[in-house]
Amino acid sequence: VRERTLIAVKPDGVHRRFVGEIMQRFERKGFKLVGLKMLQAPEELLSQHYQDLRRKPFYPSLLQYMTSGPLVVMVWEGHNVVRTSRVMVGDTNPAEAHAGTIRGDFSIHISRNVVHASDSVEGAQREIQLWFHGKELMD
Ligand code: CMP
Repeated sequence: VRERTLIAVKPDGVHRRFVGEIMQRFERKGFKLVGLKMLQAPEELLSQHYQDLRRKPFYPSLLQYMTSGPLVVMVWEGHNVVRTSRVMVGDTNPAEAHAGTIRGDFSIHISRNVVHASDSVEGAQREIQLWFHGKELMD
């Protein structure tokens, strides 16, 4: 199987009209879109998605923010897509994210950082199963 990753445009990214820009960056890089949906995320789904962050002090505000508006959730496929996406997205903290990365170019605050990208191949598989049914992904 070709490598796949989960990319989600967070509520601030959707609100600020960055969906097209973000998709265009992944397309121009050479990755293939194999899944796409827009949804208001249920809290239950987010609690599974962020299972490792449950004890963090910012967890309640993270959930509140992630349910504050619709998300655009995508699965991208291609060579080394997990690692390359993390580079394209930039550091979690926008103050550390380099210019030319999505967060470096479009965000200033760690809790409003525009986009999510899976952090490992295993994490990507887990997240893709969480957000998509097999039938919703194209071969
Ligand atoms: P992401 O890495 O996509 O998923 C977890 C999110 O938690 C992260 O983006 C940030 O938006 C948020 N986050 C991580 N660390 C902090 C922090 N110290 N304060 C507030 N939010 C944070």
